[in-house]
Amino acid sequence: MLDIAPNRPDLPAEIARRRTFAIISHPDAGKTTLTEKFLLYGGAIQMAGQVRAKGEARRTRSDFMQMEKDRGISVSASAMSFDFASKDRSFRFNLVDTPGHSDFSEDTYRTLTAVDAAVMVIDGAKGVESQTRKLFEVCRLRDLPILTFCNKMDREARDTFEIIDEIQENLAIDVTPASWPIGMGRDFLGCYDMLNDRLELMDRADRNVVAESIRIDGLDDPTLDKHVPAHLLEQLREEVEMARELLPALDPQSVLEGHMTPIWFGSAINSFGVKELMEGIGIYGPEPQPQPASPRQVSPEESKVCGFVFKVQANMDPKHRDRVAFVRLASGHFNRGMKLTHVRTKKPMTISAPVLFLASDRELAEEAWAGDIIGIPNHGQLRIGDTLTEGEALKATGIPSFAPELLQGVRAGDPMKAKHLEKALMQFAEEGAAKVFKPMIGSGFIVGVVGALQFEVLGSRIELEYGLPVRFDSSQFTSARWVAGDKQAVEKFINANKQHISYDHDGDVVYLTRLQWDIDRVERDYPDVTLSATKEMMV
Ligand code: G4P
Repeated sequence: MLDIAPNRPDLPAEIARRRTFAIISHPDAGKTTLTEKFLLYGGAIQMAGQVRAKGEARRTRSDFMQMEKDRGISVSASAMSFDFASKDRSFRFNLVDTPGHSDFSEDTYRTLTAVDAAVMVIDGAKGVESQTRKLFEVCRLRDLPILTFCNKMDREARDTFEIIDEIQENLAIDVTPASWPIGMGRDFLGCYDMLNDRLELMDRADRNVVAESIRIDGLDDPTLDKHVPAHLLEQLREEVEMARELLPALDPQSVLEGHMTPIWFGSAINSFGVKELMEGIGIYGPEPQPQPASPRQVSPEESKVCGFVFKVQANMDPKHRDRVAFVRLASGHFNRGMKLTHVRTKKPMTISAPVLFLASDRELAEEAWAGDIIGIPNHGQLRIGDTLTEGEALKATGIPSFAPELLQGVRAGDPMKAKHLEKALMQFAEEGAAKVFKPMIGSGFIVGVVGALQFEVLGSRIELEYGLPVRFDSSQFTSARWVAGDKQAVEKFINANKQHISYDHDGDVVYLTRLQWDIDRVERDYPDVTLSATKEMMV
């Protein structure tokens, strides 16, 4: 049965039931396992193991993917849609995958612009790890609601209060327990559901089912004794009492604003706690949120379709040089075959073969609603940050492009192939896989990335996809800044600093340097010129 989310009664039911989110975690915390269990509960797969199996099949496709496999990193982000029924409500979940490795952070950051919430998975024994912290900070920039899942409680974990304290202190966010673990490691029995006063017991025998919840009337209910050994029961009562006294109670508004995170404890591999987390996503989700855009923001309930590209993936199939633009629908009801305006070029585009990413396969998207992610195959017209509308000149904002932290020169192994190299580099620049700068003086290109491994990935992709061996050389520059400001002042600045000037793939002016001192000097000497470490992916 459909239900309208209580805090947005104006949303059409199909939109109100959508929950679009990503999982953020440190490698090994259990993201893949949890994803698999989501799909299992969502009925999208029949048994555990398929996500991984699909990953393996995909990885056998190329050497590049081989590298992905060898290093145990995930390079290709994707989106998955599935339904989840909870009591009298039926949700459509859109899970957007964030590539796991820190070296791919830029891509990951942009992925987070396409979601309305994030699920933070932490390992109960390890607490908040570096990658999680980094991703959390990005979520915070957008005040994204965050729901926390503390995984691997079937192993020795830290003390529950300690885990909660660490999150509160490390991430400066209020934490409220949605569930409370009973025992841990070998003694882990299950959780006390703090929100519904229920007991959830873990069934160790079958990892793919969850034992029926037991209805309890508070912690003094005598039936508790039947299920929990005395020493654990005493501990549970004490801890829950302390938690209720010391920790803030769940405040849905504060969760929505990103100031508070509810935490569920569980064990993804044992399918335990997953269903409660999914119910939590449904209730505190939230539903599709307005999209910042210029000159006005776009609300999901608007009847006209508006969507923006947050990711472009080229060469998903090495045999075809097609690209898939991942589009987050910000408003309206999309139907296959619709003619939309590509705002940047003002050209109409008929979207005849949009794809929806279901767990096991891609399929043609006959229709989609605000909140959904669709893939649009194209030949390069669609770039990151592009907006599609039913005619209005709207531009999605807030999709960042990060200043690269590492710069290197790149040359084709065969100097005759320089033109080919330019084409390949431009494609990767459009895809957002690297920044490409063409220096104003001299030949060749400078490539900028956020993590060192990206050079290697880029090198193998250019070789694999374009048959072009390339060489990277160290560059005299280490920082890039986009130049903006008064036209005359910018021209004067360019003329006086030609050795440092280059152009990015959009033709925008970029100042390259090695020294912070240079940047400070420019800011002092050219008050009408601004140097910016990031550039919104806008035209
Ligand atoms: P990731 O995507 O975040 O990198 O983590 P992934 O799900 O691949 O899980 C990392 C490892 O942790 C896997 O073990 C997985 O089985 C295990 N794991 C996930 N959830 C739980 C849990 O609730 N309890 C316990 N004890 N282990 C869990 P692996 O040995 O690396 O892989 P595999 O051989 O099990 O596939």
